[in-house]
Amino acid sequence: MTLLQTHRFLLRPIEQSDAPVFARLCNDKLIARNTARIPYPYTLEDAEIFTKTAAAAFRNGKEHAFAVCEQDTIIACCGVMRITNILFELGYWVAMPARGRGVATEAASAVTHFAFTALHAETLLAGHFADNPASGRVLEKIGFHHTGDTRLQFSLGRGGEAQSLRMKLDREAFNAPESVKFA
Ligand SMILES: CC(C)(COP(=O)(O)OP(=O)(O)OC[C@H]1O[C@@H](n2cnc3c(N)ncnc32)[C@H](O)[C@@H]1OP(=O)(O)O)[C@@H](O)C(=O)NCCC(=O)NCCS
Repeated sequence: MTLLQTHRFLLRPIEQSDAPVFARLCNDKLIARNTARIPYPYTLEDAEIFTKTAAAAFRNGKEHAFAVCEQDTIIACCGVMRITNILFELGYWVAMPARGRGVATEAASAVTHFAFTALHAETLLAGHFADNPASGRVLEKIGFHHTGDTRLQFSLGRGGEAQSLRMKLDREAFNAPESVKFA
């Protein structure tokens, strides 16, 4: 099993048995509004489909989504989706009680490091809705920069499209965190 250990958190692949926890944590308007594929309300059935798909996608290398655990509690989710052999898209959310203490930055930095080393990514892409500057700040802290491109991005949680600002990070420009260990 691929494990990423950061200073504070353990990141492990999502398992089907995580569905009840995901059903509780993802049933959150803020998460739904600021991501593409998470509906609101979010049901146990949604979580069962997601966790089953995520576990299979991790095994076949299409998408690597990690549960971010503090002690044994899941507090966030962060992953990369393969676009080509060298290009990946980063995404994440943090559960409401865990926000505002650097969880997204620490987890996304570890997954970025994983993508550049273990998956041999050369470039990571990410995007955030124009009305979600906190996510842009997370990406900036990792080293991403705005490309200047914007696109209309569909969000299930919004029930429509909204302006999304595109960001990217090349492998050479990334300062790998020293504290991340792979197992
Ligand atoms: C956005 C989100 C991931 C942030 O998670 P988090 O763990 O609280 O983030 P961090 O603590 O690592 O960093 C947040 C940064 O944004 C900053 N920030 C917060 N609100 C902000 C705002 N309105 N404008 C600009 N910056 C803001 C914080 O000050 C912090 O930066 P700092 O360390 O320089 O002070 C979390 O709120 C979330 O899950 N939102 C819903 C889902 C989502 O937006 N996912 C991302 C999709 S692109």
